[in-house]
Amino acid sequence: MHVSHTIASWRDRRNAFSRSVIGFVPTMGALHRGHASLVKRCRRENETVVVSIFVNPSQFNDPKDLDRYPRVLERDLALLDSLGADDVFAPDVLELYPHGYRFRVDQTGPANVMEGAHRPGFLPGVMTIVLKLLNVIRPSRAYFGEKDYQQLRTITEMVEDLFIPTEIIPCPTVREDTGLAESSRNMLLTPAGRLKAASLFRALTASASADDAKAILESEGFAIDYVEEHWGRRFAAVFLEGVRLIDNVPLP
Ligand code: PAF
Repeated sequence: MHVSHTIASWRDRRNAFSRSVIGFVPTMGALHRGHASLVKRCRRENETVVVSIFVNPSQFNDPKDLDRYPRVLERDLALLDSLGADDVFAPDVLELYPHGYRFRVDQTGPANVMEGAHRPGFLPGVMTIVLKLLNVIRPSRAYFGEKDYQQLRTITEMVEDLFIPTEIIPCPTVREDTGLAESSRNMLLTPAGRLKAASLFRALTASASADDAKAILESEGFAIDYVEEHWGRRFAAVFLEGVRLIDNVPLP
């Protein structure tokens, strides 16, 4: 497995296999079983598997959240090697934002719900970095998890509207046995918090309405950011032990 820290070194690598079909898994590191399932699928469907690891500052509206985002590069590289990734692109911030946040991708229209409404700058930050990464990596396919469903939907629409020649592949959420959706942020929970966090999935699936789910979560001590229904799914963002957790399930 080859690791590039600069765009120039990645481009040298890419030129060596310019005819190969490239599958791409963009990540912010702190990899878990959810990421592993994306990489495994990418491995099955493409000749070359590229994974990026980059904690993208422009998508964090809270500097404390950015500071405490887990960073475990050596562990991530060992996992990706064991999963058969060919290349990892792990640049620093100046490499991807050499002129700061000079241009960004913005969305007109109904972005103002859920993450769009509650995390100002998050979706433009995600779209901007994904566009940069797709332009640098130039993959045939890119893999995204349904746990970040609004992100996945926004990226799919951006790729369509900007005629980007990459197919966006949605992949199902991977859950722990308790139902808790795999997330890098789970690492920040105490063992007791992690057990309790499983109530998020239970409340989303077992309630008759978004209001019921909200009432259950409040009674269990979660601080609610939102519980809403869109696109045939029920979504929630909550805080537990100061950690922001999101999840979504299809409506029955
Ligand atoms: O889902 C993530 O990990 C990030 O939002 C992404 C897509 C890698 C962009 O930074």
